[in-house]
Amino acid sequence: MNIAVIGTGYVGLVGGTCFAEMGNQVTCVDIDVDKVTTLQNGRLTIYEPGLEVFFERGIRENRLTFTTDLADALEPADVVFLALPTPPAEDGSADLQYVLGVADHIGQLLAANPHWGYKVLVDKSTVPVGTAARVTAAVEAHGLASGVHFDVVSNPEFLREGAAVEDFMKPERVVIGTSSPRAAETMHRLYQPFVRSGNPIILMDEASAEMTKYAANALLATKITFMNEIANLCDRVGADVDHVRRGIGTDSRIGPKFLYAGIGFGGSCFPKDVQALHRTAREEGYEFRILKSVLDVNEDQKKTLVPPVLDTLADARGRLDGRRIAVWGLAFKPHTDDVREAPAHVLIREFVSRGAEVVAFDPEAIETTRATFAREPLAGTGTLRYAESAYAAASGADALIVATEWPEFRRPDLGRVRESMRTPLVFDGRNVFEPAQMVEAGFAYRSIGRPT
Ligand code: UGA
Repeated sequence: MNIAVIGTGYVGLVGGTCFAEMGNQVTCVDIDVDKVTTLQNGRLTIYEPGLEVFFERGIRENRLTFTTDLADALEPADVVFLALPTPPAEDGSADLQYVLGVADHIGQLLAANPHWGYKVLVDKSTVPVGTAARVTAAVEAHGLASGVHFDVVSNPEFLREGAAVEDFMKPERVVIGTSSPRAAETMHRLYQPFVRSGNPIILMDEASAEMTKYAANALLATKITFMNEIANLCDRVGADVDHVRRGIGTDSRIGPKFLYAGIGFGGSCFPKDVQALHRTAREEGYEFRILKSVLDVNEDQKKTLVPPVLDTLADARGRLDGRRIAVWGLAFKPHTDDVREAPAHVLIREFVSRGAEVVAFDPEAIETTRATFAREPLAGTGTLRYAESAYAAASGADALIVATEWPEFRRPDLGRVRESMRTPLVFDGRNVFEPAQMVEAGFAYRSIGRPT
C-alpha cells in the first residue's frame, strides 16, 4: 500500500519506518527542513533500539522517503497518518492546532485535485475524544464528503519508548475506530501482517478508540501511583513493597506488570494524557477525582527522596553547599534519551537550588538534558556537570541517587563505588539494588518502600 505519514516525531518515524519494513511504500512529511534533510541523508533523529536497521533498509530499498511537501506525499497515498504533536495547552487540554491545521491543508489539496481519489485519514496522535469528528469537519469544509472522498479513522498508538519497534511490529492489539466499512477494510488490510500471531484488531467507533488510548494510559499511571502510595506506607509500617508486589501481582485480575514503585512516572505521555483526560472530564461537567490524585501524588513522589537527602546532608537551613551529589540516570526511563518530565530533572533542580554540586551520568540522555537546561536554566547557587561514566559520577560524592533503572546500574562493582565516594550513601529511587547486599557492601542505603 502507499502510505503518507505527516509528522516525523517519535510515533511518525517509528510508524513510517515499520510500515516500510512491512513492504509498504511510505513517504514521511515534516515542515522542519533540517529534520527532513537529516533523515534524507540516512541519519535518524531519535534514538530507539532496533529502528536503525529498518530505517536504513527502507531508504536503501527506496520504500521509505522524506519530504517537506505534503502534496507529494498525499497524491499517491491510500492511507494518510497524522502523527502530529498535541502539546498540552496552558489549561492542560491537548492543543489541536497542528492536527487541525494539517487537516485543513489536506482538505484544500484534495478539493483542488479530485483525481487523487479517496483517502483514509488516520489520527495517530493521542487526541481528545471528538477529534476525529473535528478533523472530518475541517476536511469537509472544503466541499468534500466523508464516505465519498475520504474517511477519518482513529487508530491510537500504544508504543512504549525503548520498545517501540517491537511494539509496532508485534502489537498486543490494534484499535481501529471508524464507522466507515470502506476505511475499516483498508485499515484491516494494512495491519493484518502485524497481527499474524493472532492478536486482535479491535474495531469500534471513533470516539471509543480515542477514549481507549486515554483510558489505557490513565489506568497504567494510576496503577503505578497506587503502588507508589503503597510503598510510601510500607516505609512507615516496615513492610516491603517488593513482597507486596509479588503477593498481589500473582492475582491474574491484577497482573504482575506496572507494579514497580519508584520516584514517579515521567515521559511525554502519562503526565500529559492524565492531565488531558482530567481536563476533558471537567469540560463535560464531571470531576474525575482519581486522576487529580494521581497527578498530585506523582508530583510529590518525584521529590520523595529530597527529605531523606536533606536529613543526612543539609545544614540547619536546608542548604547543600559544599555537598557533591551523584545522579545515575537522567532519562525518564531506561533505553531512551527522552528526559521529558523526568524525575531526575526535578531532583537536580532541587539540589542545585540548595547549593549542591551535582555530577550526573546517563548512557543516552546527557545531550537531551543539556538542551533542556539550556532552554529552562537551573536556578540557585549550585552546579551541574556531567560525568563520562557511572563510576566517574560517583567518585568523590557525598551521596549517590539512582534515578533511572538502566541495566548497567544494576550490577556495578560496588566495592569500587564505595571506595571512590566521600560518604557511602546511596538513595535508590528505582529499587535496583537489594537492601541486604548494599548493607553488606558497606553502604548506608535507602530505597522506595523497602526496609534496609
Ligand atoms: C507509555 C505507555 O506504556 C505506552 O503504552 C503508550 O503508548 C505511551 O505511553 C504513549 O502514550 O505514547 P512510555 O511513556 O514510553 O509509554 O513509557 P512506560 O514504559 O509506560 O513508562 C512510563 C513511566 O512509568 C516511566 O517513568 C517509568 O519509569 C514509570 N513506571 C513504569 C514506573 O514507575 N513503574 C512501573 O511499574 C512502570
